[in-house]
This record gives sequence, structure tokens and C-alpha cells, in this order.
Amino acid sequence: MQIFRARVFDTPTDPFAGGTLRSESDTALVVDSGRIVARTDFSTARERHPYAEVVDLRSGVLLPGFVDTHVHFPQIRAIGHLGRPLLDWLDQCALPEEAKLGDDAYARALAGEFLTGLTSAGTTSAMVFGSHFASAVDILFAQAAEVGLRITTGLVTSDRNLPDILVTDVDRSVSESQELIDRWHGQGRLRFAVTPRFSFSAGPELLAAGGQLVADNPGIWVTSHLNENRDEIAGVAAIHPEAGDYLDTYDRAGLLGRQTILAHNVHPADRELGRMGEAGAAAAHCPTSNSALASGFFPLRRHLDAGVRVALGSDVGAGTGFSLLKEGVQAYFMQQLDPAGGVPLTSTHLLHLATSAGAGALGLDETVGDLSVGKRFDAVFVDPAAGQPLDVGLAHAESDEDALAKIFALGTPADLTRVWVDGDLVKG
Ligand code: GUN
Ligand code: ZN
Repeated sequence: MQIFRARVFDTPTDPFAGGTLRSESDTALVVDSGRIVARTDFSTARERHPYAEVVDLRSGVLLPGFVDTHVHFPQIRAIGHLGRPLLDWLDQCALPEEAKLGDDAYARALAGEFLTGLTSAGTTSAMVFGSHFASAVDILFAQAAEVGLRITTGLVTSDRNLPDILVTDVDRSVSESQELIDRWHGQGRLRFAVTPRFSFSAGPELLAAGGQLVADNPGIWVTSHLNENRDEIAGVAAIHPEAGDYLDTYDRAGLLGRQTILAHNVHPADRELGRMGEAGAAAAHCPTSNSALASGFFPLRRHLDAGVRVALGSDVGAGTGFSLLKEGVQAYFMQQLDPAGGVPLTSTHLLHLATSAGAGALGLDETVGDLSVGKRFDAVFVDPAAGQPLDVGLAHAESDEDALAKIFALGTPADLTRVWVDGDLVKG
């Protein structure tokens, strides 16, 4: 048993529905076998648990572990290519890199780099876009199990419009996916997601095969891309004359539900938003990627009005890194600048988008997302070195909300000195 003594910020109630920041300056989280069993003042905790180890974190701020709802495993070495729109960026930057993952040694190296990228940024749970190669997905699952992160991922599938080496067919996609499901889904913190790359590279039969996998394997997840770029959307319409719109390509295949996360949705039609809200599918908002690829402004207000759940995604490698602090600040910037009128975001909204909203999107809200009694201890310790800009900012913050805004504005992975999943250190 451990007592974590800390200044704690979290968002157990949704700030888009009137919730406020929960901030406590010196609280004790009592953790037993990875679960928070009490949250009280320190002297009470000490009295009740005189032999528990005390972890004194009063020099910084403790936050819930971050939840990244959209991040590509094979793209860690592709981060930072600037100046191209989506389809050009895929052809020139991302896909040549993804083609290398058929080499197991290469995939093993990337999986290590990728998981280090997540943990160093304080990400404890993620919906991960896998690889087109089943062997590489297997390698990622195995390494994620060792590191201990909560990872949902799957075999990426496409049957057209990509280099030949990345293309599959219905039978192969089903047999390789089923093998991975049988081997990994529900093992520890790991889960499988059916992952058609996007409807620009997946025809109706391949999408329907994914829907059949969902029907045959209750509990598995679905992730893909949606309405990111105008040329992509036009291409999808040409490939799928049977579908009413982009979302419908997934819906008619049986891929839309509460266990579906669709990335971007920068250019949705009202019907699509209404249908996403009705189906309970979540949108992964990836603001640095939307800026880097000039995809456009994410219509957050329209998503909220339609009842669509929204959380943050880093979208590495179109996104510019693993930091959900950076994604939060970029989300704020873009809402400020949106010519159509953005949602004014506070630091409390940003924390929610990076933690509890992501946990909700991933169906992990009973488990993680805030630091309430009953939740697992997935947490990030923000503890900047003395004299660093964030240390100075925290020392002079005017309120807890202001301190949190400074964490988003100034925080880097170097300031996140310790990260836990289920009470076990994964960084620090
Ligand atoms: N759409 C299809 N594939 C990708 C990808 O790798 N990155 C992004 N941002 N969009 C995509
Ligand atoms: Zn993506």
C-alpha cells in the first residue's frame, strides 16, 4: 500500500456540461494493488495506514494519466515532415515508412521507440493505429504488454489506392485479424480494434469484413479516419457510390457504434454529426495534425451540439509529437482563431480533453481518466526542475486554473518526471 501525497488536479465532471476543475493542494491518495482506495487529507490517511509507504509529491502537480485517442505506431520516424496536404503527405512521407514494417527487426525497434514516446509524454492509455503487417502488430502488442500501457490497436487494412505491399484482401484481412484477436484481445490491458485505414483505401467488401469481425467478436473496437481533407472526401465519394456520405461507408458496414473512434472529422455534414451522436461514436480531435497538413478547423461546437463525444489525439506522425499538453494548447489556439466561431476553451477543458474525455471515448471511464476513489492509479507527476519556465510559472500562478494553463502552455515531456499505470512506474 502507498500514500501519494500531492497537489492534485483532475476533471471528474465534464466541463462542457458545467463541471469545474477539482484541485486540492495537499491531498493523500491511498493506493492498494494499483487501485485508489481512499482520497483524504494526509493526516487522516497516515493515521489509518501507519505502515504504508509515503510518496511525497508536494514539489509538483499530480494529474491523471493522459489518454491519446489517435496515434500511429509506424509513424514515429515520420514526425516533422511539413508543408504537404494529406494525400501527398501519405504518398511521400508516411507510406514509404509504413512499408518498412514488414521487417520484424525494424518493427521491433519502432515499437520500442513508439512506446517510449507515449510514456515519456505521460500517455498511459491509447487507441493506436497499428500496422498493415500482422507481424508488426503482434510485436507492438507484445512490447506494450511488457511496458504495461493500456493499448487498443489492430491490423490496418486497405485493398486499394496504396502501394502494393500495404494492400490486403478480404480473406487475408479476416484471418490475420482473427488470429491477433484470439492472441491479444482482453489480455491484461490490451484490446483489439478493427482498423480500416480509411474509406479512400478500403472498398465496401473490405469494410463489411471488418463489420463481420465486430459481430463475431463482441467487445472489440473500431477505429479509422473520417472527413479529414476535401480531396480525400471527394475520393471516398467516387469509390463508394453506394454510400450516402463518408460516415455511411462505415455505418453500412456495421462499423459504427459506442466502441468506434473516428479521427479528424474536420469537414462533417450535419447528418454525419447527428448519426455519430446517435450511434455513440467518438471523434478524435488532432489539432497539430489538422494544422500541419492544413486540413482545417475542427468544428468543436457542432460536435458538442450534436452530442458527439470528443477527445484529443496526437496523430503522430502528421501530428508534431506525442505531447497531449501540446495538443491541448493547439486545440485552444484553433478554437480561438476559427473563422466560423470556436468554443472558448479553458485549461479545465483542456485537461478534460486530454484525460477523462479520452477515457470515456475508450470506454475506460470506470477505470481511469480521473483520480477518484475506485479508479486505477494511472497518473503523471508534473515536476519541473528549479528555475525552468514552468517552475517559475507555477510559483507565480494566480489560481489553480492558471497553474493548469501554465502546465499546458509550458509543459514538456522533460517536466513529466514520473508516470504510473495501475500504480506501477512506467517512467521515472
Ligand atoms: N488518413 C489515412 N491514413 C492517414 C494517416 O496516416 N494520417 C492521417 N492524418 N490521416 C490519414
Ligand atoms: Zn491518423
